[in-house]
Amino acid sequence: MVSPDLRGMPCSSDSAAARDAAEQALRRMMSFHGTPLADLDAAIAADPQWCLPHVMKAGFLLGLAERSLGPRADEHLAQAHALALHATLRERAHLDAVQLLAQGLWHGACRSWGELLLQQPRDALALHWAQLWDFYRGDAISLRQRPARALPDWDAADPLQPYVLGLYAFGLEENNLHALAEDVGRQALAANAQVPWAVHAVAHVMEVQGRYEEGSAWLRQHQPAATENSGFASHLWWLKALFRLEALDIAGVLRLIDNHLSGEAPRYTLQRVGAASILWRLHLLGEDVSAAGAALLERWPADDGEAGHHAFNDVHRVLALLAAAEQGRAEAWVARCAEKAMDVDDARRSNHATAREVALPLMRGLLALGRGDADGAVDSLYPLRASVPRLGGSQAQRDVIDLSVLAAAARGGRRQIGRALLNERLMAKPLTPLTRWWVDRLADDEEERA
Ligand SMILES: [Fe+2]
Repeated sequence: MVSPDLRGMPCSSDSAAARDAAEQALRRMMSFHGTPLADLDAAIAADPQWCLPHVMKAGFLLGLAERSLGPRADEHLAQAHALALHATLRERAHLDAVQLLAQGLWHGACRSWGELLLQQPRDALALHWAQLWDFYRGDAISLRQRPARALPDWDAADPLQPYVLGLYAFGLEENNLHALAEDVGRQALAANAQVPWAVHAVAHVMEVQGRYEEGSAWLRQHQPAATENSGFASHLWWLKALFRLEALDIAGVLRLIDNHLSGEAPRYTLQRVGAASILWRLHLLGEDVSAAGAALLERWPADDGEAGHHAFNDVHRVLALLAAAEQGRAEAWVARCAEKAMDVDDARRSNHATAREVALPLMRGLLALGRGDADGAVDSLYPLRASVPRLGGSQAQRDVIDLSVLAAAARGGRRQIGRALLNERLMAKPLTPLTRWWVDRLADDEEERA
């Protein structure tokens, strides 16, 4: 039987219990509060003939960006296909999009969700997933445009509307529309204090503008509501560590790593990349973080099977290895990624070209820096800057590459490039203690050469 769901979209289940459980799962996915798996199991138990909960499980698992979760996602997709005969067009479109994801065809999946959203702008599941894969694809324009195309059709009374505002706020921030991003993020939080995308978007605005003390205070204010039992927690702790780093509070940064970013807290690579990024940033400042790097790697499975699955994660594993002074293991990891990047069977995957054309040369440049070849590192990394957004992630996350170029320029003979990058920072944000550190470092370098 087909009847409309809460947002007027045709739904092939007439079980109120199944629909309620799926709505609860959707809310968990958008709020990152717990995982949706138990709710989806409840939906399946209430209506075993409904394909959508299986599709949602598969999409959720694929969103964790681990190759090892692929087989579980495939099982749910197979179950969904077996039930698809009675599915609505919308449910089948979601199934097709998630099937594309399972094949690594991220651009195709996002196109499918885009078409779905033209017909039904209040399809929250399509908005949520498309935003996640726009983020993974490094498609900043879609991060802004996609929620913008939908938002005027949303009713402010819908409990999911603040989450859509949160998506939009982040898209605005990534397109450098800072004032509007902050305003929209605050609007979302005024409607619902537990919208992590909104807390996160405003924190990113503060980070990119160098408002590090205000950013720390902002997270102190909002973190309890946004991070309790939240999949977003480690990323917000990472932002807090960035604020402490901007203040050059090294002890504070190390405390945050120990307490929240490393150890037993991260379960997925997606959560480990924060510690890798911060440790590498500390290493670039001359801090010996090898013990902390080794501790992070202890719980980061040395699974060669993950190489080449997600280029962004691959690069961060190199950062963790180099921060841990594991040059040999880093070289071996990049060699494994290079093999995967040349694997023709894998070449259809959207992330394969990114791995081959961006991540691989980037990782080789980082290896050069690890070996002490500062000029070689600048020569490899600097020309890649324009391509780095293809790695996905946020501007703040990708800033780790610019900082690597800066460090290499300060250590070697490419001083003009270092000064040019510093000028960019000085135009983007006030002279923070971190930027001052780099200014002094390059000035020392200049004096030595005079
Ligand atoms: Fe972020």
